[in-house]
Amino acid sequence: MGGATVGECDRFMARWEPDSRAVMAQPIRIGPWQRRKARRTLVAPSGPTGAPARGALLRLPRGSRGDPRRYASTEEWVEFLQWCLPRFGLQWRGFRRHWRRLSARLVRHFEQNHVHSLAEARQLIESNRDSLARWDRLFRWTRSRFFQDRGVYEHLRQGVLPFLATQKGPGEELRCWSVGCAAGEEVYSLSALWQLEQAWQSGPELRLLGTDVDESLLGFADRGEFAIDRMAEVPSAWRSRIFAAHEGESSSNAAGTVPIHSQLREGVMFRRQDVREETPEESFALILCRNLAFRGFHADLQQSVLERLIRCLEPGGFLVIGAHETLPTSAAERFREVGPGIFQHCSGPRYDAPSHLARWLASTDLAN
Ligand SMILES: C[S@@+](CC[C@H](N)C(=O)[O-])C[C@H]1O[C@@H](n2cnc3c(N)ncnc32)[C@H](O)[C@@H]1O
Repeated sequence: MGGATVGECDRFMARWEPDSRAVMAQPIRIGPWQRRKARRTLVAPSGPTGAPARGALLRLPRGSRGDPRRYASTEEWVEFLQWCLPRFGLQWRGFRRHWRRLSARLVRHFEQNHVHSLAEARQLIESNRDSLARWDRLFRWTRSRFFQDRGVYEHLRQGVLPFLATQKGPGEELRCWSVGCAAGEEVYSLSALWQLEQAWQSGPELRLLGTDVDESLLGFADRGEFAIDRMAEVPSAWRSRIFAAHEGESSSNAAGTVPIHSQLREGVMFRRQDVREETPEESFALILCRNLAFRGFHADLQQSVLERLIRCLEPGGFLVIGAHETLPTSAAERFREVGPGIFQHCSGPRYDAPSHLARWLASTDLAN
């Protein structure tokens, strides 16, 4: 099994391992949007260890290849993950709903690397004999969609972006950052919102930065090419304005992918960065950190990532988190929740959501 040196691995672990003496700040739900979300989002029921809900278990013949129970009971797996995940700055809570996919990945990893039991895996990790970067990759979700959580984009289009546009003069930069940008879906969705609203064209210039830890995803993002079936994620009226091919048309290349319009790439940049360790030097009026830190990271790490994001926010800037996520308690004094998972830092000019938008969003399923 390939691996890093003991010193390298120790440094790798020490970066994110939580301080066990620290009192963990429990995330809270703040604001009316969060309360509405809480009613909408019922977490699958789980046992005392936080074991996955019954429906989330793999339905495989007991003991067959690919069956995690070949190695251990579900409770033992959960215990292992509760021990293992904090070493990567992660927490089991963020993975419980994804147990099916996670266990399939773990079993594949065990099979490929001839690991025969959880005890053996634990030993390998503890003694730094396995590649920790590879384990880190096992725990990464990379799924993203264009305009994921439509209500959020609608709020940005009708409320936040026009507000920000009026705060900047013509020709000034309006900088936005997508943290954990995957293959660029979020970045290009924002770019499309901006480009399609002619009214803002005479205002500031939009600059979009996408960062991700995964080089291969960034390669796709940079190319701005997507499998042709991804067009279905985009509202039909916008498809032809975003992709350089129409529905039903054959894709423009042999790989079955379709490029986005070059206009959407203006002012867009991608960079490899691990948000656990570094952040950009620029400051931003809008930061999207969705389906990453405030879902899967350990409470200590969530707190330090939040502090770093705040340092990157301009006064009165906006932070957007995922539809089912919450900010650490310490955010309550510094942010106001102004929309679904949209928080404004209290330090600058105050934004109030237009009342028609609040009414419209209240009657809409935001998760679509
Ligand atoms: C579930 S996707 C979410 C993508 C997008 N933010 C969204 O909500 O559609 C999570 C992304 O975060 C990236 N990621 C995971 N760990 C990261 C880290 N430590 N630093 C930066 N990006 C990370 C993954 O590679 C993946 O592309």
